[in-house]
Amino acid sequence: MTKEDDDVRYRRLGRCGLEVSEVALGTWLTHGGDAPADVAIDVTRRAHELGVNLFDTANVYPHGDEGDAERVLGRALAPLARETYIVATKVCAPMGPTPLERGLSRKHIVGQVDGSLRRLGMDYIDLYQCHRFDPDTPVEETASTMTDLVRSGKILYWGVSEWDPAQLHHLVKLCREVGLAIPVSNQLRYSALWRAPEQRALASCADLGVGVLAYSPLADGVLTGKYRPATEPQPGTRAAGPNWQWMAKQYFKSGVLEAAQDFRDVAETAGVSPARLALAWCLRRQAVSGVVVGASRLTQLEDNVLASGTRLDSDVIGKIDDALRPVQMA
Ligand SMILES: NC(=O)c1ccc[n+]([C@@H]2O[C@H](COP(=O)([O-])OP(=O)(O)OC[C@H]3O[C@@H](n4cnc5c(N)ncnc54)[C@H](OP(=O)(O)O)[C@@H]3O)[C@@H](O)[C@H]2O)c1
Repeated sequence: MTKEDDDVRYRRLGRCGLEVSEVALGTWLTHGGDAPADVAIDVTRRAHELGVNLFDTANVYPHGDEGDAERVLGRALAPLARETYIVATKVCAPMGPTPLERGLSRKHIVGQVDGSLRRLGMDYIDLYQCHRFDPDTPVEETASTMTDLVRSGKILYWGVSEWDPAQLHHLVKLCREVGLAIPVSNQLRYSALWRAPEQRALASCADLGVGVLAYSPLADGVLTGKYRPATEPQPGTRAAGPNWQWMAKQYFKSGVLEAAQDFRDVAETAGVSPARLALAWCLRRQAVSGVVVGASRLTQLEDNVLASGTRLDSDVIGKIDDALRPVQMA
C-alpha cells in the first residue's frame, strides 16, 4: 500500500474536460433521509473542504418523489463558490403515478430539469444523468433533448447510469453521427463484492471514452465489516433502519458477512480501514473516474476520502480476491 500525502486526487471524467475527485459524495438515503439535515450539510461542506468536488444526487432521492436530497444538497452547497464543485443529478425514475411522470421522454426530462434546478437552488446542473435506460423512448429523443439542455445552459454535461454496453455503444455512435452532445459518464454499481461491470461494462466505457462513476463501492457499508454474522445490526447503521429488508436480501446470506470479516482482516493487516481499502480497490481500475460513496457522519467521510491516492500492492489485491471470491456477486 502506498500513499504519498493526504491530498485528494482528480481524474478526467471519460474524455470530457471535467476533472473529478477520485472520491465523490453521494446523497441517497442520507441527505433528506437517514442523516439529520445538519449532519448531511456538515458532511457535504467538510467533503468540499477536503477536496471532494463531485456531489451526486437524483430527483427521486432519498425515498421516492419528494426531492428532499436535492433540497438538502442545495442548502449545503449554497455558500460555496459555484465554480469549485460539480453537481450531478438524475432523471428517469417515477416522480408520480402517471405514465408522463417517468422515463426519458422530452416532456419528462424538460419538466424534471426545472424541478431539480428549483430544489437545488441553482441555475445550472453540471452533470445530468439518465438514471436508467428507458426502453419505451427512442434514444434519439433523449439525446436530442439532452443536447438542447446543454445548448440552453441548463446542464453542462450529460451521462447515464446502468446502461449496458450495447445501449451505450448505440447512443454514443448516434450522437457522433448526428452531431449531438455525447454522454460523458456511466454510473455503475461496482464494488469488490459486486463485480458485474468487470465482465464487459468497464472495458466498453473505456473504449467509448465514457467515464465510469462507481456507486455503492462499500456495498452499502457491508465491506466495512461492521455487520457481524448472526448478530443484529448496530442501531444507526443502514441495515438497522427501514432498509433492513433490502439489505438482508442483498447481503445477509450464505457467507457474505463472514467474507466481509475476512476482508476486514486484510485491511487490518495492510494497516488501513476496510472502507479505505474497498474504495482504493475500485479506484485501481483506470476506467473508473471516481467512486460515489455515501457517508452518514463526518468520521465516515474523513475515512473514505483517505482512499484517494492509495495504491494497492498486487498481494493485497490477491488477498481481497481470496476473501471475497466465494461470495462475489455479478
Ligand atoms: N446510479 C444509481 O442508480 C445509484 C444507486 C445507488 C447509489 N447511487 C449513488 O451512490 C452513492 C453511494 O451509494 P450507497 O450509499 O448505496 O453505498 P455505499 O457508498 O456503498 O455505502 C454508504 C453507506 O455505508 C456506510 N458507510 C460509509 N462510509 C463508512 C465508513 N467509513 N465506515 C462505516 N460505514 C460507512 C454509511 O451507512 P450507515 O452509516 O447508515 O450504515 C453510508 O451511508 C449514493 O449516495 C448515490 O449518490 C447511485
